[in-house]
Amino acid sequence: MRDITAPESARWRRFVDVFERTVSAAGYELVIPPLLEDIGVFTRLGEATDVVTKEMYDFVDKGERHVALRPEQTASICRSFVEHRPTTPFKAWYSGPNFRYEKPQRGRYRQFDQVGIEVLGSLDPYVDIEVIHLGWIFFKKLGLQQIELAVNSLGEPENRTAYVAALKSYFNDRLADLSPESQQTLEKNPLRVLDSKRPQDSDVIAGAPMINSFWSAEAAAHFDTVCNGLTSLGVPFSIDLKLVRGLDYYRGTTFEFRGGTLDSAQNALGGGGRYDGLVADLGGPDTPGVGFAIGLDRTLLACDDEGTFPSPPDAADVFVVDVGDGIDALLICAELRAAGIRTERSWDNRSMKAQMKAANRSGARFAVLIGEDERLAGIALLRDLRSDAEQVSVARTELQATLISRLSSLQGAE
Ligand code: HAM
Repeated sequence: MRDITAPESARWRRFVDVFERTVSAAGYELVIPPLLEDIGVFTRLGEATDVVTKEMYDFVDKGERHVALRPEQTASICRSFVEHRPTTPFKAWYSGPNFRYEKPQRGRYRQFDQVGIEVLGSLDPYVDIEVIHLGWIFFKKLGLQQIELAVNSLGEPENRTAYVAALKSYFNDRLADLSPESQQTLEKNPLRVLDSKRPQDSDVIAGAPMINSFWSAEAAAHFDTVCNGLTSLGVPFSIDLKLVRGLDYYRGTTFEFRGGTLDSAQNALGGGGRYDGLVADLGGPDTPGVGFAIGLDRTLLACDDEGTFPSPPDAADVFVVDVGDGIDALLICAELRAAGIRTERSWDNRSMKAQMKAANRSGARFAVLIGEDERLAGIALLRDLRSDAEQVSVARTELQATLISRLSSLQGAE
């Protein structure tokens, strides 16, 4: 778990702002679920999922309730839907931290942030397309070029069941050729063997049966519409029939956004799909769902690698240098800050020279200088810290308006 300090923290806020703008333009509304839920909310993610069996931060609270820090937010959004029963289609977005007890490494942390969307209440493949497209345009807004989108379908629940049985028998026949780790995975979840990146497994996996031969006509038609929709929108993608995803609730469409600059073990920047049975599993009415989550920590690493989406500049607009008793700095700062001008000052009665040094270091464009003489004359000195330190005297009553106009003309010139 990490501290996110400035200027990185400002970048995190901006990341969420850009996401909010992207998805609220499509009618998604913010839901803020709690960090802690009854453990039952997450056990629905699947008994065969590492996220549930090995990685959850769970404990018994003082009221003897077995609770867990959320490892993801899809289940929380569905639980919230069951509790509040909003009208459908229900379109939600969220952001915030999740917790998984994983082995920490670059791009994999025990507390990590996600932004995401979920749509509950429609089976329409055009929802899948909208959801995937929103993820895609968000990555483009961050300036990322090396994003690969992989899509697949796990078919209808019966298709998936038949496929899992076929995989199990195929892998069991070749058990000795699989790595010991994959042999263990096979016991719990044959689908996840397809995820193995171990060289020893690659030949066996290459010959494994493929999900598309198990799709029903409806599942194939749904997937076809999704692929055609993405093509019509100009979203490049590849079909990856081995894309299974880590959580057990998926049915039908699944997809993953991969970053081209990251190690293959941590290159999934975001992913999602359909989970049409989850709301019913949580005690709600039979309600289909589709959505995705994007990992903030990992996506920002991809931004660093591609040299895009830098931290916003962190400079003051104005620095007040007060060589009197400090009361002028107090009042001027309050006045300018109330007008939305980012204003800083020094403390501890420092010398004029020390205060000017601090003003230059702050990155402020202007310094406002004031002392006993200026106060008596009802003026302040306004110094442009970049333009050869040009200095003018401004009536105190005009100071705010003058700064607003000087700063906005500078912004216009940028
Ligand atoms: P997920 O694939 O488990 O899906 O996580 C989504 C993204 O969260 C990953 O692609 C990755 O960027 C990030 N992430 C996951 N674990 C870590 C970690 N330990 N450290 C850093 N980043 C991490 C879900 O969570 C589903 N709820 C997505 C979804 C939404 N499906 C349907 N709707």
